[in-house]
Amino acid sequence: MPGLIIRPMTPEDVPAAERLSDEGFYELDTRMSRPSWPAPERRGDRGSERWVERTQHFLRTDPGGCWVAEEETGPVGFATSFVRDTTWFLATYVVRPGLQGRGIGRTLLEAALQHGRGCLHGMLAASSDPKAVRRYHLAGFALHPQMFLTGRVDRSAIPAIDRVREGSASDTDLMNSVDRQTRGAARGPDHEFLQRAFRVIVSDTPTGSGYAYLGDKAAAVALAATNRRTAARLLWTALADAPADKDVNVFHVTAANQWAIDVGMAARLELHQDGYLGLRGMKPPTPYLHDGALL
Ligand SMILES: CC(C)(COP(=O)(O)OP(=O)(O)OC[C@H]1O[C@@H](n2cnc3c(N)ncnc32)[C@H](O)[C@@H]1OP(=O)(O)O)[C@@H](O)C(=O)NCCC(=O)NCCS
Repeated sequence: MPGLIIRPMTPEDVPAAERLSDEGFYELDTRMSRPSWPAPERRGDRGSERWVERTQHFLRTDPGGCWVAEEETGPVGFATSFVRDTTWFLATYVVRPGLQGRGIGRTLLEAALQHGRGCLHGMLAASSDPKAVRRYHLAGFALHPQMFLTGRVDRSAIPAIDRVREGSASDTDLMNSVDRQTRGAARGPDHEFLQRAFRVIVSDTPTGSGYAYLGDKAAAVALAATNRRTAARLLWTALADAPADKDVNVFHVTAANQWAIDVGMAARLELHQDGYLGLRGMKPPTPYLHDGALL
C-alpha cells in the first residue's frame, strides 16, 4: 500500500477518528441490519462527546495502544487498545468504508496487538463484519457468538427487588474485585470514566457482590457479579429503571450467560444474535455483560 503510514494516535486525531468511526459503524450497521433489530442510527451529540472522552481516556492510560492509518488524503483508519492487569483489550477498530479489504486493517491491528505483547489474555467485541471476524481469527482469538435482547419490558413481570443500592466511587475497590473474579482483570481507571458517564448500582450481600452501569441505549452498559442471583437482581433493576414507553436493549450476552436470557425472557424481550466475543487465553466471563469498547 504505497503512501500508507501507521503512526501513534495523538489527542488532535480524536475528533476526526470519532467521525470516521461513526461513518464506519453506521455503514456496517446498515449493511448487516435485519428486520426487527434496532434501526441503524448515526451517533447523536451526546454519543459523540462520550466517544471523544473515552478515546482521550485511552490515550492518557495507553498511548502505546492507539494507532492511526494515514494516506495522503488524511486518516483512513484507527485502532485503540488498552491493557488492564494481564489482559489486552481492543476498544475500537475501523477502516474508512470504501477502503476496507485492502490490508489497512491488518497493519493497524498488528500495531495495536504489539501493545499487548506481554499479556496472557486478550478480549475484544467483534462486530459481524466478516472482515473483522477474519482478522480476529487470524490473530488467534476464539470467537464466541453473542446474543442481544430487545423490546418493551413487560412491567407486570418485574419482581420485587431488594439489596440493590446506588453505587459511588467508594465502591470502586469492590467493583475491581468483582472484575478480577469474573474476567481476570480489574477495570482500574475505567471505573472513574464509567462513573463520570453513567449511573452505577451495586449489590453487596454476604452471599454475592456485583455492580451495573446503567445506560440509555443499553439498559446495563456493563454488569459483573460473583453469582447469577446477584447478576439477575442487578439486571432486573436496570430493566425496571428503563423508560416504560421505549424499547430497551441488553447487549453482548454470550452462551455462558444464560441467566441474562432467563431475565430477558421473563421480561418478554426478544432474543437475537449479533457479533462475537473474541477471547485469547481465557474463557467467556460470567456472570458478566460487557460494554462494547471498555469490555
Ligand atoms: C474490520 C476492519 C477494521 C478491517 O479492516 P480492513 O482494512 O478491511 O482489513 P484487511 O483488509 O486487512 O483484512 C480483511 C480480511 O478479510 C478478507 N475479506 C475481504 N472482504 C471479505 C468478505 N466480504 N468476507 C470475508 N472476508 C473478506 C480480506 O481478504 C482480508 O483477509 P486476508 O488478509 O486473509 O486476505 C474494517 O473492515 C472495518 O472497518 N469494518 C467495519 C467496522 C468493524 O466491523 N470494525 C471492527 C469492530 S469490532
